[in-house]
Amino acid sequence: MKIMVVGGGGREHAIIRKLKENPSVEKIYALPGNGGIARDAECVAVGAKDLDGITDFAVFHGIDFAVVAPDDPLVMGAVDRLEEKGIPCFGPRKNAAIIEGSKAFSKELMKKYGIPTAAYETFDDMNKALAYVKGAPLPVVVKADGLALGKGVLICQTREEAAEAVRSMMEGRIFGDSGARVVIEEFLEGPEVSVLSFTDGETIVPMVSSMDHKRALDGDKGLNTGGMGTIAPNPFYTPDVAKRCMDEIFLPTIRAMKAEGRLFRGCLYFGLMITKDGPKVIEYNCRFGDPETQVVLPLLKTDLFTIMKAVSEGRLSDVTVEFSEGAACCLILASGGYPTRYEKGKEIVVTDEKRLAQAEVFHAGTALKDGKLVTSGGRVLGLTCTGKTLAEAVAKAYDAAQGIAFEGAYYRRDIGARAMKGVV
Ligand code: AMP
Ligand code: GLY
Repeated sequence: MKIMVVGGGGREHAIIRKLKENPSVEKIYALPGNGGIARDAECVAVGAKDLDGITDFAVFHGIDFAVVAPDDPLVMGAVDRLEEKGIPCFGPRKNAAIIEGSKAFSKELMKKYGIPTAAYETFDDMNKALAYVKGAPLPVVVKADGLALGKGVLICQTREEAAEAVRSMMEGRIFGDSGARVVIEEFLEGPEVSVLSFTDGETIVPMVSSMDHKRALDGDKGLNTGGMGTIAPNPFYTPDVAKRCMDEIFLPTIRAMKAEGRLFRGCLYFGLMITKDGPKVIEYNCRFGDPETQVVLPLLKTDLFTIMKAVSEGRLSDVTVEFSEGAACCLILASGGYPTRYEKGKEIVVTDEKRLAQAEVFHAGTALKDGKLVTSGGRVLGLTCTGKTLAEAVAKAYDAAQGIAFEGAYYRRDIGARAMKGVV
């Protein structure tokens, strides 16, 4: 069995490690992969957005199964292209990936089907958006409609800030064409929970819950990033909340997508806020989260390839998906200066093998240069540790971080702290 995984970050590394556990998997190609993934798969220099390159490669190399992990190729229709060539895939088709590709679409879907989310208005006309924020309750949230690497959301404390956000997106195009249309919504409060789920469009199986830490600095301060660390399970996702989510959000969402003729097959990610009025959807993603995947998959007991194949064939109900009892923590080691300016090309050295060995090391922004591993991105490595308790997993991850180094390495000191205290 030859598998192709599209993407090249920590999430893809975690997926590849898990796929390798299945004995029928003989070969995995990563397009493009990265310096660390090269130890687990054959990396091919085809970019994740190069749909022609991806399809040609798959056909030429007789790929038996493809996993498309990042949002861009999914939203662009990579799965449709591969399926046209007869290649089975894990991941939604273009008409379902729109659930992440357009916030206006997902908000409209939730309104139509009564799925709880923040109240909102959508605007194509800047003057109308500006008039609206003048009267909107504060704080107010301004979002670019399209994909913006998790950065297209501005939480505005004043009306002036909100007007500026609207102008910078719609006129200044700080997020490019993603800002041609904006969604302006009510500010929600409460702990955030990420729930990734497997779904074949009929059956939905939530994975263990997790919590991301999106801000760059301790205490959830500083700029939004792609994610500085994760823990699982999320203590705010109690059995009662889980039941409400299943009844009020998860099942209604996949049924809504089916009713719209947009059957969703793949990993559907629910970004949730547990408000005092119950769980509400902050965002949908049409893919595995990064770095949520790096804590969720290490806790998965069931064979990942078996689940993915069942999802792609519409028989997820045949598979029993099980997770381990314990907890996991993924600590991201980033380049100093991320998410704004940072240097690349710093050599990564193992300084204490024994300490590092406690962690599973997932590579995000690394490259091989003259046989040496060097940094090549903002988020460089994810160190995942598991333990019987969250406290144990967190302590191990911080200890493991003492075993690897590169110049300017930065990480948050409080991953998991809020979850362990149980306060928001
Ligand atoms: P998103 O890219 O939609 O996940 O938004 C990024 C982050 O902005 C979320 O993880 C939340 O922390 C925050 N956010 C988004 N929408 C809202 C909202 N309506 N109320 C409060 N915070 C929000
Ligand atoms: N960690 C958030 C995301 O993957 O969108």
